[in-house]
Amino acid sequence: MPLVKKIGVLTGGGDAPGLNAVIRAVVKAAYNASIEVVGLEDSFDGLLDPSRTRRLTPKDVTGILRLGGTILGTTNRGDPFEYPVDTPEGKVDYSDRVVDTFHRMGLNALVVIGGDGSLSIAHRFYLKGIPIVGIPKTIDNDIVGTTSCFGFDTAVDFAAEAIDRLHTTAEAHKRIMVVEVMGRYAGWIALHGGIAGGADVILMPEIPYDLGKVAAALRRRESFGAKFSIVVVAEGAKAIGGQLTVKTAARAGHVERLGGVGITVAEQLEEMTGREARCVVLGHLQRGGGPTAFDRVLATRFGGAAVELLKRGVFGKMVANNPPDIVPIPLADVVGRTKTVPLDYDLLRTARALGVSLGD
Ligand code: F6P
Repeated sequence: MPLVKKIGVLTGGGDAPGLNAVIRAVVKAAYNASIEVVGLEDSFDGLLDPSRTRRLTPKDVTGILRLGGTILGTTNRGDPFEYPVDTPEGKVDYSDRVVDTFHRMGLNALVVIGGDGSLSIAHRFYLKGIPIVGIPKTIDNDIVGTTSCFGFDTAVDFAAEAIDRLHTTAEAHKRIMVVEVMGRYAGWIALHGGIAGGADVILMPEIPYDLGKVAAALRRRESFGAKFSIVVVAEGAKAIGGQLTVKTAARAGHVERLGGVGITVAEQLEEMTGREARCVVLGHLQRGGGPTAFDRVLATRFGGAAVELLKRGVFGKMVANNPPDIVPIPLADVVGRTKTVPLDYDLLRTARALGVSLGD
């Protein structure tokens, strides 16, 4: 008999294509190892209110491999350690209640599928005695210790397709099209999406930009006959010496929301170059829809590897992609850190070699 007989599984933070593929893999692999799975709804909220839980069997996950979203629901504002409430303090610590519910439900372990925020919460519960296995999820690809997170490939694929479409209208109208992509404080989506879509300029958080240099690069394109340009801007990009463009400031239980830098870049480039510019914000379209084949496979590998750890009684770890293997790494090494694009990344060198402006 396995040490672990009954587990909870939850999805936390912003959704990412592939969440359902992981849930499916965890449920099927656990079932085949005689481990009962309880699905917890809306992240850790499912452990605040036991009525928001349900048993999951292979029948419940049949056909969800290709579906976007998450059958369990998710939230990025339900940190039980700082639960947002309508009081003058604005938050309350429900973490002991979560631990209590976990034990009352007879759970032996918890699988947390989440990004940096949810994995940090998971780590705090691990330190409070809950056996945890983490699975990295985010379209931003910014979790340390894993070369990739599921959801990223799908987001990049979508960004590249959007840029393809914008190319034709940009060319027809001889315009600058500025495409704002997600990614929070990392430029992975901007860089990979931009390169895959053949962008002329890519602006990302890791390399603060000088729009004067970008305008000069666009003029150089004009000098050899190109009358249009595609500029990809990460939501976390900022000018040299400038600030992030914040849509909503952080407050109790709510993280800072970025967005809006694209329109500023478009307006300024229009003024500097005299060429008409438009801005398109890809927004949540990057997170919607079904996962690519790559993300389905990665998500399935993560789910299978997580159940392996449960069977071996190994906790406090996150499964990570370390090609060619999926390996466990300590959650403690992951939390509170952000994997940004390294400045010596070969793709940055290649982008420059191809004449792509990175704004510096
Ligand atoms: O972390 C994923 C992500 O999509 C970021 O790229 C973006 O900044 C953020 O989530 C948006 O969050 P929300 O769903 O709260 O708008």
